[in-house]
Order: sequence, then C-alpha cells, then structure tokens
Amino acid sequence: MTEAFVFDGVVAGYGDTTVLRGIGGAVRPGCVLGVLGRNGVGKTTLMRALAGFLPLMSGSVRFGPRELAKVPAHARLAAGIAYSPQEDTVFTELSVGENLRLHLADGGMARYAPYFEAFPRLAERGAQRAGSLSGGERKLLAFTRTLALDAAVTLMDEPTEGVQPENIERMSRLVRARCEAGAGFVIVEQNLSFVLRTADEVLLLDHGEAVLAGPIGGFSRSDLEGRLVV
Ligand SMILES: Nc1ncnc2c1ncn2[C@@H]1O[C@H](COP(=O)(O)OP(=O)(O)OP(=O)(O)O)[C@@H](O)[C@H]1O
Ligand SMILES: [Mg+2]
Repeated sequence: MTEAFVFDGVVAGYGDTTVLRGIGGAVRPGCVLGVLGRNGVGKTTLMRALAGFLPLMSGSVRFGPRELAKVPAHARLAAGIAYSPQEDTVFTELSVGENLRLHLADGGMARYAPYFEAFPRLAERGAQRAGSLSGGERKLLAFTRTLALDAAVTLMDEPTEGVQPENIERMSRLVRARCEAGAGFVIVEQNLSFVLRTADEVLLLDHGEAVLAGPIGGFSRSDLEGRLVV
C-alpha cells in the first residue's frame, strides 16, 4: 500500500433512518485507525459503508485516486480492500480448513503458517466443523482468513470479541507485522487495551458523529474510557 484510504462526509443508514451524520477519517500506509464508541452508535454501520455493503447517502470513500462508492462489495477485494464483519464471520457448516481454503484459487495453505504458529488450535481443528468452535475461536478463524488475504487495507469489526487475552496480544502483533509491510487497517474495537496497543489514530463515534479524532498518543486511557462508559 502506497496510498491512503480516505473517507469523507460519510452519511449512511437504513431506509429513512440516517445513522452516520458525516464521518471522515484516513488510513495512511502502515497505519491502524481504531474506531471506538458505545453500543449502537454506528460503528458497524460505518464499516458496512466503507466495505460497500451499505450505499452512501452522501460522502466519499477513496483508495488513492480511486473513488470506491460505486465499486460493489464483491469487487472491493480486487480493489485492495478486505473486510471482516462483526457477525456471521465463518461458514459454520464447513470445516475450519474449508473456511480457510474456500476462497483460494490455488488452495495453497502456506500463507497461513504464521497464523497457525500463533494459533495452533486452528491447525489442530482443521477437520472440525467451524460451527463447533467457540465464539472466540470463530473470531480467530475469521481474523486469520482475512489477514492472510494480505490486502492493502483491511476493515475489521470487533475482531477480539470473546478471544482469550493471550491471543488478543498475538492478534495485535500480527496486525502490526502487516503494518510493517505497508498495510493499513480500520479496526472497530470495544477492547481499549487492544486499541491502545495497536492503533496509530483513533476515531470515537457517538450517535453517528465523530466526537474525537486524532493520533492515539494525544489521548490518555481515561480520556477514552470516560467517553465509552454507559
Ligand atoms: N439492519 C438495520 N436496519 C435498521 N437499523 C439498523 C440496522 N442495523 C443497525 N441499525 C441501527 O443503527 C444504529 C447503529 O447500529 P450499529 O450496528 O452500526 O452500531 P454499533 O456501534 O456497531 O453497535 P455495537 O457496539 O452493538 O456493535 C442502531 O440504532 C441500530 O439499531
Ligand atoms: Mg457493531
């Protein structure tokens, strides 16, 4: 990734209901934008809008010079944008291995080596139905599948939900390793420790508006915590 992923004035919602009221942000190469906010403020709606699963009512989403607003969701990966949703992250009727092989033209599993090393349980459970995994293990499977796409920009919606702390730390390291290679990320998270450890910039939403944005170093944990308690 050599160009920025930039969204600007994003307005989106469902039917007649406007959820996002003009949200902007940018991801430079090698950087992570952490998106925070209480339940129901519009984090997932933003990710759906950025991933092309929800049309923009207005605003723009660009990767370098390319406007993505008219690029359908299924064509976004070819445009360099990967997306891992908050819910329904894996095919429950398929095995763990099938979930990882499904989208690979060559079936090559070598790309997963660093992920199997970090999460050996995924390799051990290759033949098991993904639906039999715990919620946290499914999240790890989805995280692995998405990260190993090596996309220029990866959008992840609450990847650490239900994941054990030691694996959350490994997830952070794997994301930062991709950043070293120039990849960019937008990651929605409730886990403030993960965001503080992983993100370069933060965007905090409330009621569909950005109430705080900037380099993460500019905010203390308590600044952010104070905005997240219900
Ligand atoms: N498919 C939908 N149809 C109509 N309204 C929706 C739909 N999905 C979400 N909403 C509404 O949009 C608003 C924002 O929801 P969204 O899922 O984006 O919040 P969130 O910040 O991701 O919440 P959470 O922290 O619980 O994941 C909420 O009021 C929600 O009820
Ligand atoms: Mg959500």
